[in-house]
Amino acid sequence: MRRETDFFDVFRETLDKLDGEGILVVAGDPPNPITIGWGTLGYIWHRQIITVLIRPTRYTFGLMESARDFSVCVLPDRYAKTLAICGTRSGRDTDKIKLCDLHPEKGLKSDSNFIAESEIHFECRIVHKHRLDPATLDPAIIKRNYPLSDFHMVYYGEILGIYRNA
Ligand SMILES: Cc1cc2nc3c(=O)[nH]c(=O)nc-3n(C[C@H](O)[C@H](O)[C@H](O)COP(=O)(O)O)c2cc1C
Repeated sequence: MRRETDFFDVFRETLDKLDGEGILVVAGDPPNPITIGWGTLGYIWHRQIITVLIRPTRYTFGLMESARDFSVCVLPDRYAKTLAICGTRSGRDTDKIKLCDLHPEKGLKSDSNFIAESEIHFECRIVHKHRLDPATLDPAIIKRNYPLSDFHMVYYGEILGIYRNA
């Protein structure tokens, strides 16, 4: 059972996890979970927006390029191993849903699937995207994070719904 909630109820918990063991982005059908550690939550265009950064080398990148919607799933602390697997194995050659014994469910307001085990999930619609531009990126950030020049695509997801495990 999911209970709808708001941005401010989940803000701290979501950002703590993002900067800790990570959270999941789930895209595609069949769904593929990827662990992410970078993103933002805020207001743009008077809308609530979540941004996620996906490197073009990820299997998820192709899924996001053909998706309209995606979900962001915050797992309970005991799922550290799942986050490690989803952050090291690729959907190209591994069914991570099966390997991690996760249970995807159809979104309540979007085309995306979410993970039923999540304590919080966001349903998001892509309203904008752009590739990071090395011409305007701090050279120290480039040196530290992009030795292979695989600059992230930044996806802007308008938040259609936020839910907690009831
Ligand atoms: C804690 C953590 C955070 C990560 N953050 C990101 C991220 O923000 N963006 C990204 O593209 N990859 C990130 N990764 C790497 C991907 O999760 C990893 O390459 C994954 O295997 C890709 O899966 P896929 O090929 O199925 O898309 C992170 C990995 C970990 C462990």
